[in-house]
Amino acid sequence: MSKLTYFSGIQPTGNLHLGNYLGAIKQWVQMQSDPDCDLLFCIVDLHAITVPQDPEILRRKNRQVAALYIACGLDPKRVKIFIQSENPDHAYLAWIFSCMVPMGWMERMTQYKDKSKKQGERTSVGLFNYPILMACDFMLYDADLVPVGDDQKQHLELAADIGEKFNNIYGETFKIAKIYNQKETSRIMSLQNPSSKMSKSDIDPSGTINLLDSTDAIEKNVRRAVTDSGKDIIYSPQKPAIANLLAIYSGFSGISISELEKKYKGVNYGDFKNDLAKLLVKELSDIQDKYQKIINKPEYLDRILDEGRDFAISISSKKIALVKEKIGLSRSHS
Ligand code: AMP
Ligand code: TRP
Repeated sequence: MSKLTYFSGIQPTGNLHLGNYLGAIKQWVQMQSDPDCDLLFCIVDLHAITVPQDPEILRRKNRQVAALYIACGLDPKRVKIFIQSENPDHAYLAWIFSCMVPMGWMERMTQYKDKSKKQGERTSVGLFNYPILMACDFMLYDADLVPVGDDQKQHLELAADIGEKFNNIYGETFKIAKIYNQKETSRIMSLQNPSSKMSKSDIDPSGTINLLDSTDAIEKNVRRAVTDSGKDIIYSPQKPAIANLLAIYSGFSGISISELEKKYKGVNYGDFKNDLAKLLVKELSDIQDKYQKIINKPEYLDRILDEGRDFAISISSKKIALVKEKIGLSRSHS
């Protein structure tokens, strides 16, 4: 059986938070133990510029996210990490796909609808095309599985439609990738509002815990987290705030939610939150220590990103050559 390929990415914007870790990066780390797969993780800076970015901050965030990937447990000897804009094939294929995709498919994208409503006339054409570029990211590498949070599901469905359309017209060229995630942690909610997801762009800082937050900030936000009426610590749709805290606890401790329900039977919310705060402080300070070591070794990080880029190009350039051949972007048959 041929090896599976996993591909995922995160935008180098804002601060990475518990949702990014539990919904995405933690899955990636677990996948490393499967010896029969290739793993590629990208820092998607071309996606980041679909909204205005400060160049200095963007440069810094590119390195910061790469260092966080490693600090969270990705092993650079096992996986390839690269910066999207360093491989020109992504934007190249995005143009080709954008010439094939009907506007109607794109107009249905809920993330675009939400974001463009907020941005009004400032909304860029790039934001509209964002899901096409995302499809290229993993289709260039024939990815089988894309480990992302639930919010990306529709984008993966679009990618499947694009792949099928291309394959129907030009013959089998692209693999159709599937989403991969774990139900409980695929959607971590705001600590202040359990009906909206924890997000980099939340204006209320107390709803989010960032991976690089100080001990004080972590403790304060867990203490302040909203809870539900009643006092039982159970995982139930009637208790969305407690269910969210349980999902976070389980994600970081590896203890199943049902075990946690047993452990905290009869315990009050305050004590439960204290334990959760302690756990998060410990786990995040491990990540932060590793992060500091990596970010302070620029040559090490550059070497990993150079290797990642070269590997990525070695694969994607073949796919681009095939696509060009199939659609006639050449003077003659190769
Ligand atoms: P973003 O923050 O939009 O760049 O997302 C990066 C990755 O984290 C994607 O795989 C998202 O699906 C995932 N993600 C973002 N927010 C959450 C959340 N609140 N819960 C679970 N996964 C999330
Ligand atoms: N759209 C994704 C997000 O906002 C980021 C992303 C871009 C991505 N390209 C990707 C994720 C390719 C997985 C695979 O989270």
